[in-house]
Amino acid sequence: MVGSLVATAFWAMLPAYVPNNAAVLAGGGRPIDGGREWRGARVLGDGKTWRGTAVGTAAGVALALVLNAAVDPAGAAIGVDFPAFDLAFGAMCGDIGASFLKRRSGRERGAAFPGLDQLDFVIGALVAVFLVAPGWATAVFTLPVLAVVLVMTPVLHVGTNVIAYAIGVKNEPW
Ligand code: CTP
Ligand code: MG
Repeated sequence: MVGSLVATAFWAMLPAYVPNNAAVLAGGGRPIDGGREWRGARVLGDGKTWRGTAVGTAAGVALALVLNAAVDPAGAAIGVDFPAFDLAFGAMCGDIGASFLKRRSGRERGAAFPGLDQLDFVIGALVAVFLVAPGWATAVFTLPVLAVVLVMTPVLHVGTNVIAYAIGVKNEPW
């Protein structure tokens, strides 16, 4: 019961988890805000780039295509027809929105914002998917699945970021 909830939550969120990690690997180049400031601080900062956002979104979409193809359509109802772009781009937008809030609250690029750092991309992905693909979203994200997502994601996020930091691909362990 709990196992299947966790499996559903993990499976459904994978296309939203991958973009952040891909962006870390692909980041660099022109920042989205073009270096512009607003009220004395960068709009987004150098940690949000066009390339990171594009590669991150593409990685999430590519993974969703693989997952779609890997699942027998007759078998798992939730395995098929991921709203791939909505999940992946929504996740990236959540992360970008969080950077906007971090800059407004005086935090420099890379500063931690506990809570927001771990959930920004989940909120972004869920908002996008409930808005753009409400049928899929309400079928997959039942209240118990949503509860699992909200508990499981911070744990996974902390874990993957500590690993990314340890192997030297990320500047901070959060
Ligand atoms: N990244 C990117 N584009 C994005 C998201 C992330 O290029 N849309 C890359 C950047 O190289 C960034 C790294 O991934 O430095 C880590 O992402 P994140 O922790 O979200 O950014 P921070 O550098 O910590 O900046 P911020 O304080 O704004 O979160
Ligand atoms: Mg960061």
